[in-house]
Order: sequence, then structure tokens, then C-alpha cells
Amino acid sequence: MMQLSVENLTICFGGLVAVDAVSFGVAKGELVGIIGPNGAGKSTTFNAIAGVAAPTSGTIHFDGQRIDRLPPEQVSRRGIARTFQLVRLFRSMSVLENVMVGATSSSHSLQAARRRAVETLEMLGLGPRTHNRISTIPLADQKRTEIARALASEPAILLLDEMMSGLNPQETDEIIALIRTLNQAGLTIVIIEHVLRVVMSLPQRIIVLDHGRLIAEGSPQVVMHDPLVIEAYIGRKHGLAELGGPP
Ligand SMILES: Nc1ncnc2c1ncn2[C@@H]1O[C@H](COP(=O)(O)OP(=O)(O)OP(=O)(O)O)[C@@H](O)[C@H]1O
Ligand SMILES: [Mg+2]
Repeated sequence: MMQLSVENLTICFGGLVAVDAVSFGVAKGELVGIIGPNGAGKSTTFNAIAGVAAPTSGTIHFDGQRIDRLPPEQVSRRGIARTFQLVRLFRSMSVLENVMVGATSSSHSLQAARRRAVETLEMLGLGPRTHNRISTIPLADQKRTEIARALASEPAILLLDEMMSGLNPQETDEIIALIRTLNQAGLTIVIIEHVLRVVMSLPQRIIVLDHGRLIAEGSPQVVMHDPLVIEAYIGRKHGLAELGGPP
């Protein structure tokens, strides 16, 4: 049985079909990538899974239970955590305080939330940043804090939306290593990504969206040579980052 199962998901904004009858599954422990040109419907798919965007039609199941009509807090309580394409932290608050926000949903007390947050920061190498304000730390550490906040809720699946944008190659490699470690520890991960090096090296399987439709699915090597995928990127003039065009 799939841990996450999206069936015939359609999301319309007025006349625009942002997600068009998309179906895919993610098995427990998998690391799946979602790629596609700008506006393909990737973030909207995440929003639907997280309970933020209401599907026009279709269903989403998690651990065999329907979640597509649940509010975001309940989706989070069932073990789905996500990060945002643009960093969404409280900028005037400390790293610890931000991560405690994530920890409160799974903790019984403030003290437990704090303990959980401190543990998570240590695990991600953010210990030295614990009391720094978000607005004063480098972007890479802000992204790590976002991951820490998501992990502090003790999720079963982590949805990462374009983690690598704005990072330099070394920072990107560090986040790649972190994601790989988390996955090897058993966490299911779905990652939306534009950076080609990440797309080709990290996921076991890739799903490609274009104009809201799922146009290809398979191993990175197979998918990136699929004529439909190449066409989708040429047609949009928005190549994958570092690619400057089709593969
Ligand atoms: N809340 C909204 N209201 C209206 N239109 C929206 C809304 N959210 C997304 N859209 C539109 O839906 C389409 C899909 O957007 P989405 O953000 O899912 O794309 P994406 O694949 O994540 O793109 P990008 O790579 O640029 O992040 C776009 O045309 C976008 O303008
Ligand atoms: Mg997006």
C-alpha cells in the first residue's frame, strides 16, 4: 500500500486548471522528486496535500485515510510536514523559537517542545545558531531551520518545495547530504526541485508536471531523456537551473 496516494487530483483557480487529473503514489521510505516548468502546478499539488488548497476534484489518502478535506493542522498532526518555496520563518524570532513552533504540534508541553526543538537543532548542526535571530543568519541556515521546524513535528513524510534556490553549490551539497541522511533514517521525502544536479542525483523516482498534467514518471535518467519532458522545458524557455535548456 502507498503511504501517500494522490488520485485524479484537479485544482482550478477560476478558469485556470492549475492541477489537471494528477495521480501518483509515494511508498513509505521513498525519496521522490517532482519537477516541471514554472507554473506547472508543483507547489499547488503540495498545497493540496498539506490541506491549504482545496481540490476541485480527486482524492488524497495518507496511511489509507482520506485527508483531502482536512484543515492544515490536522494534516500536520497525521504526520505530513512541509517547507515553503520562499522561506517562511518569523524573522525577528530566534532559530530555537521558530523550531519550537513546529514542535508544539507534537509536544504535550512547552518544555517538551523546547527539548524536541533543541534535539532537532543539534541533529541538523544548528546548535551554534540556537539563539540567533533568523534575520541575522545566512540563507542556507534559514533553509536548515525550515527543515528543522518541519522535523520538529515528528513527521512521517516531509514535503520540500525548492529548498536549493539561492544556495551556492557547497550549501546545496550540504542540504543534499542532509536530505539523504534523513531519508536513509526512514523518512519519506517528496522534493520539488529545479536544480539539475539535485534532480539527477537525489530522488529515486521523478514525477514531471507540465501545465498541470503529469507527463512523465520514472528514474531520473529515463525521465530526463523523455522527449515530452525535453519539449516541456524548451516550450517554456525555462530550462532547469544549471541546464540552460534541455538535457
Ligand atoms: N492561489 C492561487 N490563485 C490563483 N492562481 C494560482 C494560485 N496558486 C497558484 N496559481 C496558479 O496556478 C498555476 C500553478 O502554480 P504553482 O505555484 O503550483 O506552480 P509551480 O509548478 O509551483 O511553479 P514554480 O516552479 O514557478 O514554483 C500557476 O499558473 C499559478 O499562477
Ligand atoms: Mg512552486
